[in-house]
Amino acid sequence: MAIKSVIKSTGAYLPEKILSNQDLEKMVDTSDEWITQRSGIKTRHIAADDQTTADLATLAGRDALERSGLSAGELDGVIVATTTPDQTFPSVAVKVQAALGIPAGLAFDVQAVCSGFVYALAMADNFIVRGQARRLLVIGAEKMSSIVDWKDRTTCVLFADGAAGVVLEAQESADESVTARGIHSTHLYADGNLRDLLYTDGGPSSTGTSGHIKMQGREVFKYAVSHMATVVNEALEENGISADDVDWLVPHQANIRILEATAKKLEMPIEKVVVTVDHHGNTSAASIPLALHEAVCDGRIKQGDLLLLEAMGGGLTWGSALIRF
Ligand code: ACO
Repeated sequence: MAIKSVIKSTGAYLPEKILSNQDLEKMVDTSDEWITQRSGIKTRHIAADDQTTADLATLAGRDALERSGLSAGELDGVIVATTTPDQTFPSVAVKVQAALGIPAGLAFDVQAVCSGFVYALAMADNFIVRGQARRLLVIGAEKMSSIVDWKDRTTCVLFADGAAGVVLEAQESADESVTARGIHSTHLYADGNLRDLLYTDGGPSSTGTSGHIKMQGREVFKYAVSHMATVVNEALEENGISADDVDWLVPHQANIRILEATAKKLEMPIEKVVVTVDHHGNTSAASIPLALHEAVCDGRIKQGDLLLLEAMGGGLTWGSALIRF
């Protein structure tokens, strides 16, 4: 009997305020046409000034917990992927733990920018498979609006806020094939030599400020398409399956052109790709669980579907997770 980490439930929270491309036209020298053509983004959610990442994460975590049918007392811990914590320390995760009444157990943040959720999921899976935890809440939460330079049209039109997550539960299974429910593989990568392609120009030990996002868009685009296709192919090969066996690709939502190019490279119809970038924008670590939750709620993703999650972000970092939902 092998232990698998099964997704018991998903949950999400999106801030009330919606910022449209037309709104952005009034803030910087841009147009709905440019943003739509280059990124596929039409609207995005922006947190209220007094809403922190921990507030978003707590609401998303509560939603996932309620949908799981479990009580907070049954969880062994919480991992939050975020690049926009409320404070340098303590972590967002301990705030979520306290707010939801999760008993003493592991709680920490993961910083891998847009790949953060895949990194956090891989860590949670390792704790569960090793028997160090039976049930974990894994959340991606971001207030990207707090590190965007709202005068920089090359970045402010892309990023947005939100939070979402999953409850993972250990389940024993005699079936070791990909037909069994649970996480079947995770692959994580980083190449720090490429860190200057996407970064913030500040931090606690350098400037004493959180800084603003700086990005070499074209270069990031190139790496995003090639790395995403490589990790996806690696996941398929390791599990002995083909792209046809995958029911849904749930990618990090950075840009519709990256999603289309990745699907094309994999010879996967775009209809099998969950796309939310048009109404979520790029919510960094929150984007994959937000897309997952949306597709579960609207009935596209059903129990038993084979999902391939993949992401690339600042660092550069990238990774994948193959999951039987
Ligand atoms: N509105 C109007 N014009 C703009 C805007 C804007 N918001 N932003 C830039 N421009 C102008 C530029 O100034 C430039 O003008 P110029 O030709 O006179 O110099 C022109 O548009 C073209 O700029 P490029 O940066 O070359 O445009 P590109 O086609 O590369 O698109 C984009 C930019 C959308 C950022 C694209 O490169 C991209 O999607 N890159 C991927 C980066 C990404 O998604 N990062 C997110 C984080 S990483 C991740 O999540 C994968």
